[in-house]
Amino acid sequence: MRLTSLTFPFLSLGLATAQSINTTYVAGLLSALNGAGLTSLVSAASSLNSSTVGQQLLGELSAGSNGTTKFTIFAPNNGAFSGVPSNISGNPSLLADVLAYHIQTGNISTNEIASYPNTTIGRTLLNDSTYVQLEGGKNQVVAWSKQSNGNTTVLNQNTVVNVLSNTVYQNIQLYIIDGVLDIPGSLDAAMAANNLNTLRTVLSTITVGGGSLFTQLNSTRGFTLFAPTDAAFSAVQDQLTSLGSNMTALQAVLGNHIINGSTVYSPTLMTQNFTSGAGESLSSHANTSGVFIFSGNTTAEVSKPDVILDNGVMHIIDHVLLNLQSDSSAASSAYASATSAAAHTSTEQGPVGSTPSATGSAGGGGNGGKSAAVGLGVGSGWGMIVVGLVAGAFIL
Ligand SMILES: *[C@@H]1O[C@H](CO)[C@@H](O)[C@H](O)[C@H]1NC(C)=O
Ligand SMILES: *[C@@H]1O[C@H](CO)[C@@H](O)[C@H](O)[C@H]1NC(C)=O
Ligand SMILES: *[C@@H]1O[C@H](CO)[C@@H](O)[C@H](O)[C@H]1NC(C)=O
Ligand SMILES: *[C@@H]1O[C@H](CO)[C@@H](O)[C@H](O)[C@H]1NC(C)=O
Ligand SMILES: *[C@@H]1O[C@H](CO)[C@@H](O)[C@H](O)[C@H]1NC(C)=O
Ligand SMILES: *[C@@H]1O[C@H](CO)[C@@H](O)[C@H](O)[C@H]1NC(C)=O
Ligand SMILES: *[C@@H]1O[C@H](CO)[C@@H](O)[C@H](O)[C@H]1NC(C)=O
Ligand SMILES: *[C@@H]1O[C@H](CO)[C@@H](O)[C@H](O)[C@H]1NC(C)=O
Ligand SMILES: *[C@@H]1O[C@H](CO)[C@@H](O)[C@H](O)[C@H]1NC(C)=O
Ligand SMILES: *[C@@H]1O[C@H](CO)[C@@H](O)[C@H](O)[C@H]1NC(C)=O
Ligand SMILES: *[C@@H]1O[C@H](CO)[C@@H](O)[C@H](O)[C@H]1NC(C)=O
Ligand SMILES: *[C@@H]1O[C@H](CO)[C@@H](O)[C@H](O)[C@H]1NC(C)=O
Repeated sequence: MRLTSLTFPFLSLGLATAQSINTTYVAGLLSALNGAGLTSLVSAASSLNSSTVGQQLLGELSAGSNGTTKFTIFAPNNGAFSGVPSNISGNPSLLADVLAYHIQTGNISTNEIASYPNTTIGRTLLNDSTYVQLEGGKNQVVAWSKQSNGNTTVLNQNTVVNVLSNTVYQNIQLYIIDGVLDIPGSLDAAMAANNLNTLRTVLSTITVGGGSLFTQLNSTRGFTLFAPTDAAFSAVQDQLTSLGSNMTALQAVLGNHIINGSTVYSPTLMTQNFTSGAGESLSSHANTSGVFIFSGNTTAEVSKPDVILDNGVMHIIDHVLLNLQSDSSAASSAYASATSAAAHTSTEQGPVGSTPSATGSAGGGGNGGKSAAVGLGVGSGWGMIVVGLVAGAFIL
């Protein structure tokens, strides 16, 4: 197809958007995508004009047309689009959100992509509060890495999505991929998808702030959960059973698996120490064999890093961090710092956690969707939030 024969209908529209759309620039981008054979993506992108979310997206991309901002785009090939259900492809607003999830801010070059189990995290343009409820109104991220089989893979997808090739259009680093990416879902869905059945039961049993820890986490804004596998729980069943209905002890143990108020992806995890939701130190160490987490005198290896959630992140681990210690004042102050840090979101220009933030401008700060800090230590320490023990209900 000759590029000059293409028509981009939205170009003729005078749309009122926050950021103006540079039609020359967008047309050039679509031509480049067409030139790469990505006709289905071009067709999907041509519907962006018909939704507010899509218009915002075109405006955001256009802001980079003078070269100030760089972007990295995952561009699904035609085969990828054939698998997209019509309830997504026929819904322009949802399709715009899906496409926004394919665009990362900053130039993430091939030599910055980490080898698994380390991951590369990119901050995407997806900020629709229907689909993302991170602390401070932060945009959703995408996780990807180089696999031992030599492929570069986008993580957390229902079907494996590989990078096929890469190219550059002006300020945009383009990676052609063989799947359309799934927008991350809830903790509830991710626990089911990863068979974390015992963890779900345990979290459902523990009561904090008037609800179960499970429902609280599933609806809070911003947290990191170290999620032991079913096998990990089986291995410490005797120790957990011996805690019986001691809710203080159970809260401490599970609280030591959480960073309350902060969504910490593995690149950041590896360079800092944290205070857990129970007020204890959480540290990590990475080497060529893996990433390890330390709490009290227990250690676990991360068996699956960076399971991205709509409101946080989960790292699956192979041992329960059986630390019964807690410090409610340390938990409170860590939560207060996390909340205050979240209010000053910045725009990453490259992989999250591996380069200093480029700008310090305030983020969206959206308050729609999930409420901030439900239950988990608002003004009080973790160990202090016992509201109605579920007596004797801790049965594995
Ligand atoms: C629009 O994009 C074109 C092509 O990328 C660029 O040359 C031009 O400077 C941009 N215009 C504005 C106003 O940024
Ligand atoms: C956007 O472009 C399509 C063609 O791709 C056109 O049919 C539609 O009318 C345009 N949207 C609006 C809101 O005009
Ligand atoms: C490029 O565009 C952005 C957003 O419109 C603006 O903030 C920036 O100052 C521009 N830079 C140059 C060099 O024109
Ligand atoms: C689309 O429809 C499928 C069933 O065909 C359903 O499983 C899925 O949840 C729907 N997706 C959306 C976004 O509505
Ligand atoms: C690696 O990626 C290629 C596409 O580039 C794909 O055909 C192949 O099946 C992938 N290999 C594995 C082991 O997933
Ligand atoms: C991104 O960085 C790589 C490596 O520095 C470079 O080769 C590439 O051209 C850059 N891409 C863009 C869009 O600037
Ligand atoms: C978890 O949150 C999701 C929305 O993010 C919701 O659909 C789901 O029903 C919630 N699950 C529970 C058990 O509250
Ligand atoms: C419950 O566990 C806490 C923390 O390990 C411990 O300090 C307390 O003595 C225990 N209470 C009972 C009744 O065993
Ligand atoms: C984290 O804590 C451990 C153990 O206390 C310490 O050895 C390490 O230096 C700390 N790391 C950082 C980045 O502060
Ligand atoms: C992961 O990162 C750590 C720290 O930078 C490094 O020591 C380790 O070798 C990396 N692991 C892999 C598999 O690349
Ligand atoms: C560490 O383990 C020892 C025995 O193995 C135990 O007595 C002690 O309480 C543990 N310390 C912590 C902080 O969990
Ligand atoms: C998402 O980002 C766009 C572009 O910066 C902005 O116009 C919009 O208000 C943001 N939406 C939310 C919900 O923060």
